[in-house]
Amino acid sequence: MNQEVKNEGFLDTLALSELPPDSQKSVFVRTTRVLLCNTDAGLFAIEDRCTHAFQPLAGGDIEDGIISCPKHGACFDLASGKPTNNVATRPVKIFKVRVRNERIEVDPTPVPS
Ligand code: FES
Repeated sequence: MNQEVKNEGFLDTLALSELPPDSQKSVFVRTTRVLLCNTDAGLFAIEDRCTHAFQPLAGGDIEDGIISCPKHGACFDLASGKPTNNVATRPVKIFKVRVRNERIEVDPTPVPS
């Protein structure tokens, strides 16, 4: 049995201790850069690529489960990837994320929007 089948398709990223509360970290999941966010609203995995002008979302302010792109201020719901203001019109891809054995794992297949 290969590692992916054993993990139901989820791929290992970081130790949970590397992503303390109120922090974010950009990682590669296969070839996609994914921003892991540990927030008051939970743990989220969102593509680290804004749909406005394709800049990284990393470093954006997060409040009430909404991330604000540091470049021009597009806001996205971390749970759905949908834009919450009118700077961007298209959603950002989101991914299922879970913690197993103190490791953060991400499903590399985006959640259908
Ligand atoms: S690139 Fe994100 S708001 Fe423009």
